[in-house]
Amino acid sequence: MKISIIGAGHVGATATLFTVQKKIADEVVLIDIVEGLPQGKALDILESSPLLDFDIKLTGSNNYADLKNSDIVVITAGVPRKPGMSRIDLLKININIVKSVTENIKKYAPNSIIIVVTNPLDIMTYTAHTISGFKTNKVFGMAGVLDVSRYKTFIANELNVSVSNISAMLMGGHGDSMVPLPRYTTVSGIPINELLSNEKINQIIDRTRNGGGEIVSLLKTGSAYYAPGASITSMLESIVKNQNSILPVCAYLNNEYGFKDIYSGVPAILGKDGIKKVIELKLNNNEKKLFNNSVNEIIKTVDELKKLKLLA
Ligand code: APR
Repeated sequence: MKISIIGAGHVGATATLFTVQKKIADEVVLIDIVEGLPQGKALDILESSPLLDFDIKLTGSNNYADLKNSDIVVITAGVPRKPGMSRIDLLKININIVKSVTENIKKYAPNSIIIVVTNPLDIMTYTAHTISGFKTNKVFGMAGVLDVSRYKTFIANELNVSVSNISAMLMGGHGDSMVPLPRYTTVSGIPINELLSNEKINQIIDRTRNGGGEIVSLLKTGSAYYAPGASITSMLESIVKNQNSILPVCAYLNNEYGFKDIYSGVPAILGKDGIKKVIELKLNNNEKKLFNNSVNEIIKTVDELKKLKLLA
């Protein structure tokens, strides 16, 4: 099992550390355009191997040819939004990065599974899908796993119970367009609304929706990476161990939930070939409205980008 992680920044390097610690690959390659960065981070992590007890071939590289024979490639390469940068400016830059990365994946690892992490996620995953031409079960994105992890953390803290007792699912986009599903949230089988007031549940949902922003406002000079890194590793584990876990995944919709040829966050079974199945939940009217609004926003952005010839 060879896993390559593109982008040796905060998220990519943290995902690398968790992945080698979990021993779910024989080989991990960390790739970045900045000379020395992936090599330095890979070496630093490797030097912890006697302490963390892993025997994994871990290297850093600036050469995309080192993607060769990767089974899974994770894309975290991108730039964050800087002051004064418009939404479209950021999209333009990150689309071009994800395009060039995906072209290299296509060239050097044509049989791989691609997990996109670069934001804005639904658009970047769509970009990787159009450029790679890979089967849609093999191109998907990570956001929901992170949102659910935040949501579970807040619920467990509020109730002072183990996080492992919480079972939950969220849908839609990352952040504002997240679709909460408290109906599907239980604590050791007990519906959440029997344990917490609606007001408390709504506060937790709002905090989850703003989870990334909360970290940014605390860090001031960066965004989250520990929980995002762990979320990537959890998806990798489900694939590598063929666990068939049901996870919220930014997946290609092919008539599920009434949408076609677009990516959005939905529950999906993740196993050795990537997405085994998108699960179609019976949403109530309000959930349906929120999900439709979320997907329609993505469709609008994709159309806008097609007009600008940024997407085919
Ligand atoms: N090829 C490879 N690496 C690239 C490329 C490229 N074409 N372009 C940029 N990079 C690298 C940068 O050199 C940098 O090391 O991507 C890395 C991004 O790292 P950070 O800036 O630290 O960003 P990070 O916090 O890791 O977030 C990465 O994940 O969660 C998302 O929103 C987040 O889109 C962002 C991504």
